[in-house]
Order: sequence, then structure tokens, then C-alpha cells
Amino acid sequence: MASITIRNLDNEVKDLLRQLAAENDRSMEEQARVMIRAAVEGQLGSAGRIDQIEQTLRELASARGLAAPVTAGKIMPRGLSGKRILFIIGGGIAAYKALDLIRRLRERGAAVRVVMTSAAQEFVTTLSVGALSADHVFTELFDRNDEHDVGHIRLSREADLLVVAPATTDLMAKLANGHANDLASTVLIATDKPVLMAPAMNPRMWAHPATRRNRATLQKDGIAFVGPARGEMAESNEAGEGRMAEPLEIVAAIEALLDVGPKPLSGRKIIVTSGPTHEPIDPVRYIANRSSGKQGHAIAAALARLGADVYLVSGPVGIADPAGVQTIHVERAQEMRDAVEQLLPADAAVFVAAVADWRTENSADEKIKKVAGEGPPMLRMVENPDILAGVGHHSQRPGLVIGFAAETQDLLRNAEAKLRKKGADLIVANDVSQESGVGPSGVMGGDRNRVRIVSKAGVEEWPEMSKDEVAARLAALIAERLKTIVV
Ligand SMILES: Cc1cc2nc3c(=O)[nH]c(=O)nc-3n(C[C@H](O)[C@H](O)[C@H](O)COP(=O)(O)O)c2cc1C
Repeated sequence: MASITIRNLDNEVKDLLRQLAAENDRSMEEQARVMIRAAVEGQLGSAGRIDQIEQTLRELASARGLAAPVTAGKIMPRGLSGKRILFIIGGGIAAYKALDLIRRLRERGAAVRVVMTSAAQEFVTTLSVGALSADHVFTELFDRNDEHDVGHIRLSREADLLVVAPATTDLMAKLANGHANDLASTVLIATDKPVLMAPAMNPRMWAHPATRRNRATLQKDGIAFVGPARGEMAESNEAGEGRMAEPLEIVAAIEALLDVGPKPLSGRKIIVTSGPTHEPIDPVRYIANRSSGKQGHAIAAALARLGADVYLVSGPVGIADPAGVQTIHVERAQEMRDAVEQLLPADAAVFVAAVADWRTENSADEKIKKVAGEGPPMLRMVENPDILAGVGHHSQRPGLVIGFAAETQDLLRNAEAKLRKKGADLIVANDVSQESGVGPSGVMGGDRNRVRIVSKAGVEEWPEMSKDEVAARLAALIAERLKTIVV
């Protein structure tokens, strides 16, 4: 294969390419190849393919707040440019993720100054942190040089935002109770700037009444939180709520708090559904599907970044509520339908949730017992409400209704039929079969997606991207469509 010389690109395009490559764990050359291949295969549109690549880059840039929408053919500065973040690393296993977070923030143009607790230095070294932040790392309250040079008060004031990740049980307790006995806690209490905490701890520590109390106090004091999420912990054989939000989720929360980037959706109310539904069989068993909520949550976050008032109706998932979004948690399809209908009217609705088509007619009030000789119980299924069709034909139908069609066969035929029957404006079709070839773990539960946008005008194929990229591009498309819909 011919080699690609990245050097010959504009700096702005190069920066964006670097970021896309980092997000997809590819080299810049490989990222460029993926995009060129997509263009050659016509996945970015049939006419003006090079223009389409540029346009795609700009849409992505604009949707992430990296650039204002471009008309003059130039990509504008990155979204966190000029923002100063004081990043406090606490002593937890998730401290290793702090390294990635520093890199993500710097890629977006932020200046990152780091304070590490002494426990944090047991998990990652000041050497790695200093190399990634390109700055001195602050560790001591009583350091004659630092105190003379910068000082704890200046450290806390010379920032636009303080971020604590991982926020340990201990750091939360200290701030909730006003302690200031090391540099991290002193800086936190001396600041008048917004503070974001990304807690990470063992599920039992997170569930402890003392931690609950401290979190409530901190929230009352105006501290913002992202996560923790539910899932496997770094310690073996541990699972539950307490895993630190992923670096990109923390970046999204930072962007939302700093309110950076263009806001083409400001003043627009958008409903998004996400995740699976759980349909009970009895109090302990339920029927579910493999939806992780990653795509729906990413779409909700991307719409919020563009300024929309987003209401996310989420089934049971193991990921954190997106920052800057009002999340309503439901379990069953009927609860999801009721929550969505209560949120109408809205400017747009995006139905990403994998809603169970059927539920058991009557779920048992007590756990169904295995009785010797009686054989398995018969489950009678009844149809669940069709939430997309209900809203698509509703008297308060939003101006823009988008459905998702996850199919394992006849993808396009099913998506086109869905568009007609359900009264949707767009169907985002994705192949969730094992053979889809998307990512190492497939679409359901994985981090990547390849979608086609089906509308009355035809079918547009998007190349395989991360779910965050699909979300950013769909949010930009929604902003574009809503421009022509007057409320
Ligand atoms: C191996 C190991 C892992 C730990 N992981 C966490 C953690 O994930 N979250 C947490 O709150 N504390 C964790 N701790 C306990 C903290 O390190 C301890 O409470 C420490 O005092 C926190 O200090 P700091 O808040 O100043 O960083 C861990 C301790 C050890 C030994």
C-alpha cells in the first residue's frame, strides 16, 4: 500500500486527525487510510468525495466544540483551548486512567496542572504525570520552592476548573467535612472555582452511609459529579457501582461544565431513550437484551454539548449518567413509554433504546419455585407498547423523530419498512449480527458502530466509527435538520 505523508496536511486538520486516531486507538496514518477507504468506497456520499471528507471532519470538529461551524474553509481552534484545569489525582487503582485523561485534555487544547496526593504516587509516578502534563507536578503543601513560586492559593485560583479523578472515599470525606491537611485538600477548600469529582472506589465503600452522606453534602455545596459507573472493578472478582467514569465521559463533563463550543441546539428540547428494558418474570428474574446504552448515552451527551435540553430515559445500564443531561431511570417498556409521553412536547426525539417487544402477561409476585415433577412454568407473552410508533403518530409529535433499527438480517428492507410504519423521519440502521465485523466485540455492548441513515430521500452509509463519533455526527445532523423546523 502507498504510504501517506501526514506532514503535508494543514496543522488544524492534522490536529483533528491526531485526535480521531487517538480516540480510535489507531496511528494517524491508519486513521487517514480508514477515512480515505470510506471515501473511495462511497461511504461518505457519492459526489465530491474529498469535500465530503473535509465536511465530515468539520462536522465532527463542530459537534465536539473543537471548531465553530466552518464556512471559510478553515478549522478553528480546539474546544478547551485557553482553559486551565487543575487536576487532582487521588490514591485509587483508577489513577492509571488519569494519565489518559491528561492526554485527552491536552489534545483538546487545555493547560493541565496536576496535584497528586501521596497515596496517588503509590499508583502512578510524578514522572509519567509530569511528562504528559508538560508541567511541574505539585505534591507537597509545605514545599518552600512551590509555596514561594506558586503557592496553594494561587494554584487553586489560577484555574478555570478543578477536577478530582479518581476522587477517593478519603478526598470526598475531607472536602465534605472541611479538612485541609495536605496539598490536595487545601487546594480544594481554598478555591472559588467549580469542582468536578469522578469518584472511584470499591462498591461497598461507595454504598457506605458515610460516603452517601459525604456525596450529598458535596452536591449541596455545588460540587459536580461524573459517575461512578456500574461494572467490573479493577480488583478481581469485584463488580458493582464504583468504577470511575471513562476519560472521555469525564472530558464531556468538563466541556459541559465549562460550557465550551458552539450551541446550535440551545433552546431545543430533545428526548433520547437508551439501554435495554427489563421485563420481569418474577421479583428476581427478567427478560432483557444485550444493549449497553453506550450509543444512546453518547447521543444524549453529544446533543447536550450542542446546547440542547436533553432528557434521557434510560433502561438499566452499567454506565454513568451523562453530564449535563437530565436522566430518568426506568426498567420496563411501559415505564419508558410513560416517561417519554410525559416529556412531550419536544423539538426532537431519538429512540435508541432496545425496547423489549414482549413482556410476560403477568409477572409473579413471588419467586417462581422449581417443583419436582411439575416441569418448567409456561410464560405467556404479550406485546409491549411500540414507543417509536406511538410518538411518531402522537398529536404532540416532535418536529423530528428518529428511530434506531438494530437488525441481524435484511437490514435495509426492515429499516425502510420501519420508517414508513412508525411515522419516523429518519431510521438509523445498524447490523448487530455477529458477522457485522464491527469492532472486536460487535455493536451490542462494544464501542464501535457502523450505521446507515435511512430517510425518504434514500440511504446514507456512514463508515465504521466509535459510538462517540456516531453520536457527534448524528447530533450535528439533528442540529442541521432542526434549523429548518420552526417552533
Ligand atoms: C491497592 C489499593 C487500592 C485502593 N483503591 C482505592 C480506590 O479505588 N478508591 C478509594 O477511595 N480508595 C482506595 N484505596 C485506599 C486509599 O488509597 C486510601 O484511603 C488513601 O488514604 C487515599 O488517600 P488520598 O485520598 O489522599 O489519595 C486503595 C488502597 C490500596 C492499598
